[in-house]
Amino acid sequence: MSSLGDDLRAFVDVSPTPFHAVAEMTRRLAEAGFTELLETDRWALRPGGAHFVVRDGGSLIAFRVGSASLADAGLRIVGTHTDSPTFKVRPLHDIRRAGYRLVGVEPYGGLLAHTWLDRELTVAGRVTTADGTSRLVRLAGATLRIPSLAIHLDRSVRDGLVLDPQRHLVPVLGLESEPELLEQLGAPDAVGFDLVLADTQPAASTGSDWIAAPRLDNLGSCHSATHALIAAEPAAHTALFVANDHEEVGSGSAEGARGSFLADVLARLVAATGDTDPQAYHRAMARSRLLSADMAHAVHPNFADRHEPNHTPRLGGGPVVKHNANQAYATDATTAAWFVARASEAGVPVQHFVTRADLPCGSTIGPLTATRLGIATVDVGSPTLAMHSCRELASAEDVPLMVRAMTACLS
Ligand code: CO
Repeated sequence: MSSLGDDLRAFVDVSPTPFHAVAEMTRRLAEAGFTELLETDRWALRPGGAHFVVRDGGSLIAFRVGSASLADAGLRIVGTHTDSPTFKVRPLHDIRRAGYRLVGVEPYGGLLAHTWLDRELTVAGRVTTADGTSRLVRLAGATLRIPSLAIHLDRSVRDGLVLDPQRHLVPVLGLESEPELLEQLGAPDAVGFDLVLADTQPAASTGSDWIAAPRLDNLGSCHSATHALIAAEPAAHTALFVANDHEEVGSGSAEGARGSFLADVLARLVAATGDTDPQAYHRAMARSRLLSADMAHAVHPNFADRHEPNHTPRLGGGPVVKHNANQAYATDATTAAWFVARASEAGVPVQHFVTRADLPCGSTIGPLTATRLGIATVDVGSPTLAMHSCRELASAEDVPLMVRAMTACLS
């Protein structure tokens, strides 16, 4: 397996939640010389300065300031999301039933529920104490499980599995005598918490140099973008990476792509580099480009008819440019050409995706961000199978291809 593929597996394993993913990305950025800025501080930025900003733990913006003013050179931006479909632990989650201790959870995002059955699960996230401080937590081992019902007790399952999330998808913590979840997490002092279920099986190498792992959508893109920003050549323009939380639930939050995080940081970048011209911000946006990166659908051998026959991306074939006539993706002629030309310079092959005319299309942070900020945007992603499964499948060969394409776009 390529070393970047190994590194993606390691990245996924230490990132069970958006909070852990942001902690790992900031650790890598800090190692590469990026320093943290706080939104509460006054910023004064210099050309060449490399910094990152975190909002509410689960969203990150990192950038290297260009040698020219933002109004004169604009920005090259890569955008991703940090969250994945999962189950979120309820505030009052302690359930005792039939001699067992269970944990009350609520589905988060468009998950494929059956893929969470009979897997070794843990709980991870962040807890906040009464003094307002937060810390990351992760339950050691594989403590939770959502067992299937034996076929002998429901033969109708042969006609299709029906799972009611309220009744059938409640994870079992153990027998009733087991300690309560927060106690097991070493966080009986938690006053607030954002905790989710996570698969504990380490990301695996399978098949033709493939990666079987949880949360590849969209930690795969977060991982590539972190590498690309660190590797990008210093330039006249400013290179920036934004990773938003809450994409899987519609992006509507202070730190989501519908929120103000990116717009706030862009406005402060213009002001903090000393440009006081009231037109500077708008000139900077008009000169900027955004590469919105979210995993793409590779053609599935057992469901090939679900793909548009002329557009069948394959694993290992390189980044997929996503197109949609109805703007579910922001790609247009100029932004597609920009990405394809940069990829070509980097020796990276490109594939194209459109959905069938008779099937609805997914979407990404691309159109949302383009709509909010008016930045020319292209939607791309690495090919994936089983998107939104508890275990997704991608190719290790696509990891260096995406990193090289992103690096060319940011350089
Ligand atoms: Co996604």
